[in-house]
Amino acid sequence: MARIPDAFIDDLLARADIVELIGARVPLKRQGKEYSARCPFHDERSPSFTVSPTKQFYHCFGCGAHGTAIKFLMEYDRLEFLDAVEELARQTGMEVPRDTRQRNANPDSQDLYGAVDAAAQFFRKQLAASPKAQAYLDGRQVDADIRARYSIGYAPDGFNALRDALGSDERRMKLLERAGLFSRNDSGRVYDKFRDRVMFPIQDRRGRTIAFGGRVLDKDSSPKYLNSPETELFHKGRELYGLWQVRQAHKQIPRLIVVEGYMDVVALAQHGVDTAVATLGTATTADHAELLFRNAPDVYFCFDGDRAGRAAAWKAVESVLPRMKDGRQAFFLFLPDGEDPDSIVRKEGAEGFDARLRDATALSQFLFDSLSTDVNLGTLEGKGRLAERAKPLLAQIPDGAFADLMQQRLTELTGVGARASAPDTHVPVQRARSGRGTPAPKRSLVRAAIAFVLQQPALALELEPPFRFAALQQPGIPLLVDLLQLIYQRPDIGTGSLIEHFNGRDEHEALQKLASQSMPGDEGKWRNELLDTIAQLDRQTLQQRIEELQAIIHEGGFVALSAEEKAELRELQNSARQR
Ligand code: UTP
Ligand code: MN
Repeated sequence: MARIPDAFIDDLLARADIVELIGARVPLKRQGKEYSARCPFHDERSPSFTVSPTKQFYHCFGCGAHGTAIKFLMEYDRLEFLDAVEELARQTGMEVPRDTRQRNANPDSQDLYGAVDAAAQFFRKQLAASPKAQAYLDGRQVDADIRARYSIGYAPDGFNALRDALGSDERRMKLLERAGLFSRNDSGRVYDKFRDRVMFPIQDRRGRTIAFGGRVLDKDSSPKYLNSPETELFHKGRELYGLWQVRQAHKQIPRLIVVEGYMDVVALAQHGVDTAVATLGTATTADHAELLFRNAPDVYFCFDGDRAGRAAAWKAVESVLPRMKDGRQAFFLFLPDGEDPDSIVRKEGAEGFDARLRDATALSQFLFDSLSTDVNLGTLEGKGRLAERAKPLLAQIPDGAFADLMQQRLTELTGVGARASAPDTHVPVQRARSGRGTPAPKRSLVRAAIAFVLQQPALALELEPPFRFAALQQPGIPLLVDLLQLIYQRPDIGTGSLIEHFNGRDEHEALQKLASQSMPGDEGKWRNELLDTIAQLDRQTLQQRIEELQAIIHEGGFVALSAEEKAELRELQNSARQR
């Protein structure tokens, strides 16, 4: 996929009205230059969520949620990045550059959705007309409500039912084939792929049908389930069956339950457990893990208790670890032999199933248990082996309290700890407080400069590169230089995007805090204050160089300096006197 140019995003965010966008979804109250509300991303009584039209971003002082208008659409409307960009562009009356509009750009993808939808409707009508298929669903205790909620249908027997019903014009025929609804035999004859099967439509995040799963009616036919092939609309590693329905039922999804089968999702919903989704005959992928956590803070993975189930659970662990940001939780639920969520919820009801969820194994427990199965923790060798196995896995957990706690647990189990932390290339603003040997006032200068630039990125354009102060050895300087360079590359960038750019880096949180503070003083004077701050930093840089050269003299005498260095020193001292 071609990337959407940053310049377009910057322009889009600059033109979009973030107050209007968020205000349409969350009641906002004006407070001075900003707007406030009760945070839509966590439960709270008093408002700590603010929206700043000038900085083009939102920020919650309570839970730390923050971002641009695009991020808001992703988090609140739960859109994918590209969909969020398109949505915002649509509202703002802008055109997303053509070649970057991925699958949505396909001029006839609308028609493709339309064709798949027509097929889904055809299958639903066929179910209404088929006593046999209805009897099957009756037998599985799926009532009319649930059939409707999941748009369950029936593909009739015979090779040409769908074809005859919908394929009358050549173009639609082609679309249906592209959507994977037909098969082709060796002689090139096209026929219905799904025959005599109960049809489960698979919906995407916007509720559009993109594919199907079809189950045979009788026990003996195989395969039991037939799924649509991968198509331009359907990538099974990225979709979760039933997620659309969960999202329809919940504004905020407290937890998601991941099961293996279509019927598990449907049976759980039938019994009132309406937050289940299924992976589609694949292991849990990284995309799944991302999608799951984007929708709910707690995710329960439900597997068979057998070997295959444990292997599948381990796959889920691997996909989930890199996404275990603080505040997220993953649990594992193993069912007794021969049972699946469908059979359990029928036997034990929603309460029984909930009780099992409460007993589920936490990720931490499952991880250490699995790694320790064939290890004797009573011996040093065993401890060593566990430590070896755990390290690469723990290293994948994003920095934060959970990562620390996992590390601590490993230390308790083995006595081996101390995760090798990656060397900092940039000093976080926060840590600037402990800068070695630098007197206090200098540190707040860098901090002030960063704060100005964050509040009004365009101010940075007033500064002329090359930046002399870049040579200053002080915490925060590399960060300031990074910020300035970014703003020079993307002159229309707003505060929100600027911070977003540092997502995943140590400085991200500190930047975010700094940006969300309101700056004292008159906005009109910020420019001069920034220029003044930078001038002071330049002066310090000059002084630093003088001290460096003087230190050389101190060590080895005046002769230790080269001719150029002597000249440089004289010049520096001159200009220092003039300032
Ligand atoms: P199961 O065989 O466990 O089916 O497959 P199930 O969900 O319990 O189905 P019922 O209760 O017999 O109707 C679990 C999931 O694995 C995929 C499907 O997604 C199914 O829901 N699967 C299974 C296939 O894709 N093809 C198959 O032939 C079997
Ligand atoms: Mn089953």
